[in-house]
Amino acid sequence: MRRAVCPGSFDPVTNGHIDIVTRASALFDEVVVAVGVNKSKSRLFSPEDRIEMLEEACRGFDNVSVAGFSGLLTTFCEEQGIHAIVKGLRAVTDFDYELQMAQMNASLTDVETVFVPTSPEYSFLASSLVKEVAMFGGDVSGLVPAFVHERLLVRLREQRAGNGS
Ligand code: PNS
Repeated sequence: MRRAVCPGSFDPVTNGHIDIVTRASALFDEVVVAVGVNKSKSRLFSPEDRIEMLEEACRGFDNVSVAGFSGLLTTFCEEQGIHAIVKGLRAVTDFDYELQMAQMNASLTDVETVFVPTSPEYSFLASSLVKEVAMFGGDVSGLVPAFVHERLLVRLREQRAGNGS
């Protein structure tokens, strides 16, 4: 059984993430979408909210599950018996950092990273940009699933009302 993990922050999940999960689910027998904690980034959504949105977004795939992890991705892979990490590459600018992480992860445990080129229509798409554009009133409804868009607008309203933690 070929299993893979699609790790990320997913704050929130975008159509670009779903594109990568879709393609990973065609390449592997089982895919675990893993929501990690990256301490260098501030989050709009809690891990629970991010997991819930991913579960909804991945409902249509019968070989995809969603899990949270804290700590090292390689520890999660060891615990799950997973030897493949799938990462989307939007542009060469992603490559330097992703290569470094892939090599670090391979040095820590028996895991290969598989890079999947993002579909061109999503090559500009990043959760951070979606949040920024939405925060300033731009229309991001075509970039995330409709239910994520609704939750994004609610969360940003809460944040503006001072309930932002
Ligand atoms: O969506 P992101 O923010 O690019 O996802 C980054 C993530 C969560 C996949 C990455 O930061 C990660 O793997 N974090 C877990 C901690 C870890 O293993 N760090 C060492 C990476 S070599």
